[in-house]
Amino acid sequence: MTMANSLSIRDNRSGKEIELPIIEGTEGPGVLDFTKFYKEFGLFTLDPGFRSTASCKSDITFIDGDKGILLYRGYPIEQLAENSTYLEVCYLLLKGELPNQDQCGEFTKTITKHTMVHEQMLNFYRGYRRDAHPMAIMVGVVGALSSFYHDSLEIDDPRHREISAYRLLAKLPTIAALSYKYSKGQPFIYPDNSLSYSANFLNMLLSVPCQPSEISPVMVKAMDLILMLHADHEQNASTSTVRLAGSSKANPFAAISAGIGALWGPAHGGANEAVLSMLQEIGSVDRIGTFVERAKDPNDSFRLMGFGHRVYKNYDPRARILKKAAHEVLADRDRLDDPLFKIALELERIAQEDEYFKSRKLYPNVDFYSGIIQSAIGIPTNMFTVIFSVARTIGWISQWVEMISEKGQAIGRPRQLYTGHKKRDYVPLAQRKIL
Ligand code: ACO
Repeated sequence: MTMANSLSIRDNRSGKEIELPIIEGTEGPGVLDFTKFYKEFGLFTLDPGFRSTASCKSDITFIDGDKGILLYRGYPIEQLAENSTYLEVCYLLLKGELPNQDQCGEFTKTITKHTMVHEQMLNFYRGYRRDAHPMAIMVGVVGALSSFYHDSLEIDDPRHREISAYRLLAKLPTIAALSYKYSKGQPFIYPDNSLSYSANFLNMLLSVPCQPSEISPVMVKAMDLILMLHADHEQNASTSTVRLAGSSKANPFAAISAGIGALWGPAHGGANEAVLSMLQEIGSVDRIGTFVERAKDPNDSFRLMGFGHRVYKNYDPRARILKKAAHEVLADRDRLDDPLFKIALELERIAQEDEYFKSRKLYPNVDFYSGIIQSAIGIPTNMFTVIFSVARTIGWISQWVEMISEKGQAIGRPRQLYTGHKKRDYVPLAQRKIL
C-alpha cells in the first residue's frame, strides 16, 4: 500500500480547498482517503450501493471485473481450480499462504476431527417446521453455535479466533446436511471422518442409514470445485454484513449467521436457486425468446437469473470453470441430454448475441451453471444457497479475522443524508387532525 498522490477538492461555498491523499493498493484502482473529509468540510459522502466506495483494506481476494480476473491471495482461480483442493484453499484464505505438506496434513486432521456437532444441537432442528427453508434453519443454528462454544469467544485472543474458524469450517457441512435431512424427514447422517471433506459432505446429504449413496469421484471433485469457487469474493453483500456485524465485537458465530441471512437474497446467493426455477419455467428451448424479451422490458421486473454482476463486466471466471464441470458431471451421471442444461447453453448463446446484454456487459455469473451441476449430483434446489453458505464460510471467517486483527479496528457506522421532517413538537392525540 503506497500513498502515491493526492486529489484537490475545492468547496465553492467557502473557497476552501483540501488535498485528499490517494492510496494505491497492489492491484486495481486506488482509493481517495476521505477519513478527514467531514472534519474539514462538514460534509458526508453519499454512495448507496457502494458503487464507488471501498469499505475496508484487504489482502485476501482481488477481482478485476473488466478483465474477468479473480485471485485468492494472489493465485488465479483457474490455477487453484486445476491443481488445488477446497481445504488447501481454506488454509490459503485464512492464513495467507498455501500450506506445505505437513501443514496441509495437520490442518486437514484438525478440521476432520471437529466435524461433529454437539448432540444437544439436534434439538434445535426439531423446533423448526418440517417445511422450513434450510436457509432459515442455517441462520438459526449457526447463530446458536455461540451458545455451545463459550470457550472460543474471546475475539481479541488470536487462538480463540483460530479455534472458532476451525469449528465453523468443520461443522458447517454437518449443520447444512442436518438441515436438509430434517426438511426431508430422513434420519440424520453423522460425519464419517474416513472420507474427504467434500465426500463426507455429499455422504451426509445423500446417504440414508439403510443405504449409503453411490458417490462417484467426479461428483466429489465437482462438489470440491463448487466449494472452492464460492470460497471468497471480496466485499460482497454477505461478507460486508459479516464485517459490519463483527465490527461491533459480536462473536464470530453471530456475525457469520448475519452473513448467511444476507446471502439468502435472490440478488446474491439465492440466485442459484432462482436460476434453476427460471430454467424450469422456460421449460423448452423454443420458449427462450419470450423470456429474453421479458428480461429486456423495463416495465417487467423479470431478470435473467445467473446473469450480470456488480463487479464482473466480463465473463465471470467461475462460470467458465463450472460450465466445463457441468459437462463432466452430466457425462458421469449419463445425463448429457439434460433438458435444463440444453436450455442454459442456448439461453447463454442467445443472450451473448443480443445487443441489450452486450451493451450492458451482462454475462453468466457463478450461479448460472452451479445449479445444473448440483441438481445432477442429486442435490435439491432449496439446498443450493445452503451449499453456497458452507463454501463462503471460510471467506467470511478469513475476512472477519483480518478485520478484528487490524490495529485501530473501529465499529462500522455509516452516515446518512437525512431527508425526513425537521424538528417539530409533539401534538397530543386529541389535537391531531385527520389526514
Ligand atoms: N437480466 C436483465 N437485465 C439485467 C440483469 C439481468 N440479470 N442484470 C442487470 N440488468 C440490467 C438492469 O436492468 C440495468 O439496465 P438499465 O441500465 O437499462 O437500467 C443494467 O443491466 C444494470 O443493472 P444494475 O441493476 O444497475 O446492476 P447491478 O450491478 O446493480 O446488479 C445484479 C447486479 C444484482 C447481480 C444484477 O445483475 C442481477 O439482478 N442479476 C440477476 C441476479 C443474479 O444472478 N444474482 C447473482 C449475482 S452473483 C452472486 O451474488 C454470487
